[in-house]
Amino acid sequence: MALELTTQWDPTKPTDTLVLAVSNEWANSKLWKSVDQLTQGWLEKLFVSEEVSTKPNKVTSLLLPPGLVCKQLILVGVGELSICDAGGWYRAGGTGAKAAATKGRESVTFLGFGVDEATEQAALIGALNGFQGQDILRKEKVLLPPKVLRWIGSETSELSKSPLIAECMIEMRRLVNLPPNILDPIAMTREATELCKDLPIEIEVWDEQRLRAERCGSLLAVAEGSFKAPRLMIFRYRGNGQGDPVALVGKGVTFDSGGLSIKPTDSMMTMKADMAGAATVLAVVMGAAKLKIDQPLIGIIGLVENMISGNCMKLGDVIRSRSGKTIEMHNTDAEGRMVLADLLNVALEHKPKCIVDYATLTGACVVALGTEITGMMGNDESLESEFRKSAGRVGEWVWPLPMHSHFSEQLVGKIGDLKNMGDGRWGGATIAAKFLEEFVEGTPWLHLDIAGPAYLESAKPWQDIGATGSMVRTTLDWLS
Ligand code: BES
Ligand code: MN
Ligand code: ZN
Repeated sequence: MALELTTQWDPTKPTDTLVLAVSNEWANSKLWKSVDQLTQGWLEKLFVSEEVSTKPNKVTSLLLPPGLVCKQLILVGVGELSICDAGGWYRAGGTGAKAAATKGRESVTFLGFGVDEATEQAALIGALNGFQGQDILRKEKVLLPPKVLRWIGSETSELSKSPLIAECMIEMRRLVNLPPNILDPIAMTREATELCKDLPIEIEVWDEQRLRAERCGSLLAVAEGSFKAPRLMIFRYRGNGQGDPVALVGKGVTFDSGGLSIKPTDSMMTMKADMAGAATVLAVVMGAAKLKIDQPLIGIIGLVENMISGNCMKLGDVIRSRSGKTIEMHNTDAEGRMVLADLLNVALEHKPKCIVDYATLTGACVVALGTEITGMMGNDESLESEFRKSAGRVGEWVWPLPMHSHFSEQLVGKIGDLKNMGDGRWGGATIAAKFLEEFVEGTPWLHLDIAGPAYLESAKPWQDIGATGSMVRTTLDWLS
């Protein structure tokens, strides 16, 4: 799909599908009026008789609209303009794209998406993502992106960033959507290396031997039960070469069976997406390189498969992590924190000014916040408030969860330093975060539990089922 960014709409230029955003305030919109004039009042009749919904993400598809040189006119509701934020425009763009992609087209033209730099950028990223779905392994595609996407918008540097950011998200979503028999730890290192090939990103891959030499006992314990060899990857983006790097750390469990504390079938079904944290780190590092962000970065991802075998970790095992702290295994399904424990320790060696980790870590976070909000925890309030501001700017949802010290009491080991889970189910997202906190040694740190928003189990009007690419836009905004 080629993208043409244009500032002026030429209504005489033929296009297969015209996609127009319509708000509750349609009657006051100059653009809407100019389209209506071309149709000689036909559009107005439809609006006045309430045939068109302007509610957010409602789609009206009209064929052969009079006066317009297109086969199809798609109207996408955005609701009330004053309350449609960047997230609303992201979804509107995606909704328009998904609706336009139900039929293969030569050209699709988007008109009237966004009201300022931030919302225009979000809408275009949303549209580019909306065109791409779960079709990677299907012969007959369900979503058919057009040959040319024409985007009528302002000539801003923000808008020109959209395709760069979207590319990273689309690649990341593809990796998360790949099934676990195809995307195992080694396949992920290959994919990541290929994706970074032409970018100013240096890559280091630690194999099992190196992981053992580096004493990554906690990560290796999780990998032990699988035939698939584990890997740790380090990405270095130097930015402008000034100052300490920001470390980004990602959980990359390419499949989480739960191990001996095995998951029930329904919860296991989507566990190919348990490497979404690692994919997020990759996407952000790629994005930073494409956008030429000044801030130097270190990305660290741990790639393992959590399986069952005669050699897998057992309840009661005591494992020595890279930090030297020993961990008692109380639940083999609490494997993400085991992997992250060693990754965080590796991150410290790069003397980062702060650490941000991404992990599909706990079902408890999904219980607390639902499937669309990222849980945010950490040890540094200014980092949290900065990150929340960025989330607000790009229109992603994050929400803080508590970090009171008493939660740590449940993590005191009986014979080791730490247990890998608390006493029961309550407060599970915080307990997991408190466990991670044991490994950051006071470095400013932000933990993002993306168990809910990383993956859609049912399709939305703006996005196909599967990986979402959440937190990439927020992090890139924050790093900029
Ligand atoms: N990968 C899961 C968390 C998860 C759940 C991600 C749902 C996405 C959707 C994680 O490894 C896990 O199994 N966590 C356990 C922790 C528990 C055993 C302390 C959980 O949430 O049940
Ligand atoms: Mn698990
Ligand atoms: Zn997991």
